[in-house]
Amino acid sequence: MSSVNSQPLTAKLTQAAIFLVVTLDPGAGPETAVKGLCADLSSLLRGVGFRVQDGRLSCVMGVGSAAWDRLFGKPRPAELHPFREIRGVHHAVSTPGDLLFHIRADRMDLCFEMAGAIMERIGGVAKVVDEVHGFKYFDERDLLGFVDGTENPVGQAAMDAAAIGDEDPAFAGGSYVITQKYLHDLQAWNAMPVEYQEGVIGRRKLSDIELAEHAKQAYAHNVLTNIEENGQQLQIVRANMPFGEIGKGEFGTYFIGYARSPSRIERMLENMFVGLPPGNYDRLLDVSRAVTGTLFFVPTAAFLDGVSDDAPDAAAGGAH
Ligand code: HEM
Repeated sequence: MSSVNSQPLTAKLTQAAIFLVVTLDPGAGPETAVKGLCADLSSLLRGVGFRVQDGRLSCVMGVGSAAWDRLFGKPRPAELHPFREIRGVHHAVSTPGDLLFHIRADRMDLCFEMAGAIMERIGGVAKVVDEVHGFKYFDERDLLGFVDGTENPVGQAAMDAAAIGDEDPAFAGGSYVITQKYLHDLQAWNAMPVEYQEGVIGRRKLSDIELAEHAKQAYAHNVLTNIEENGQQLQIVRANMPFGEIGKGEFGTYFIGYARSPSRIERMLENMFVGLPPGNYDRLLDVSRAVTGTLFFVPTAAFLDGVSDDAPDAAAGGAH
């Protein structure tokens, strides 16, 4: 597996993150600019990141289904398609997005500078349709008060979960990423007894200890998102971040999950929104509304480095 070339899919949780979803304008302009950016992304990262040596700046770039056809045509990643909405007990919406930039660092200034550098290159031909500034909340908690990320695979298991292997050799080392921006009704959630909340998540709130199997509700989040094939758990790599705006009464979780096949995340979503069996849905959704839903392919870093903008004298945004 060429996972050495993967973008930093499994980077550790950081203090800060910016999630930028952009759409490309019509016409040929965006193609040249975005291709130039692909080739220069690693250089931009070095330029911004070197200024704070221990800042752990990273950036993962994803490409949506329609944008892939516009930018790169064939061959295309085997399982790339637009995010499919789900209408179950609750609604998982599908929203526009041609490119995703998942920018992480231990300081927001690094994330902000990187996001600015990216948009300087493509801002004239692309629109930011969603921008979320995420922050670490105490001991890796979400704004519902539960620790989020505990059961994430780590090390090689994380790469095995996130990076495409022999099943699609032309895109080995790549990945798929699904994002959803959730807004919580914190008043309703906080009015619920902690024992009930623990049943919804399937873990203790204060200690983060997992409930014993026999004590878990059938609708627990960690029951519905635990999926298997031939007796093997199918894992994904999550990097959720809290975000919000006090004045607006906005309290959110930005869900972001990487997987070697989007079908893993789609199965989890089906279980959450429709229920398993149907009707046994994820009670988190009674207090959490998904307001975006997007799916992207994440090429390898080597692929991005090798992109040519087909316009030798365009100078792609004046790097000099
Ligand atoms: C409102 C949005 C969400 C919140 C607040 C949330 C929160 C949590 C929390 C607190 C945990 C337990 C700790 C942990 O293992 O990380 C968890 C586990 C997990 N979540 Fe979520 N989650 C959300 C959405 C999703 C979505 C959309 C998916 C997948 C489609 C997902 C997949 C998972 C998985 C796979 C686990 C680990 C289950 C296990 O093996 O124990 N989550 N989540």
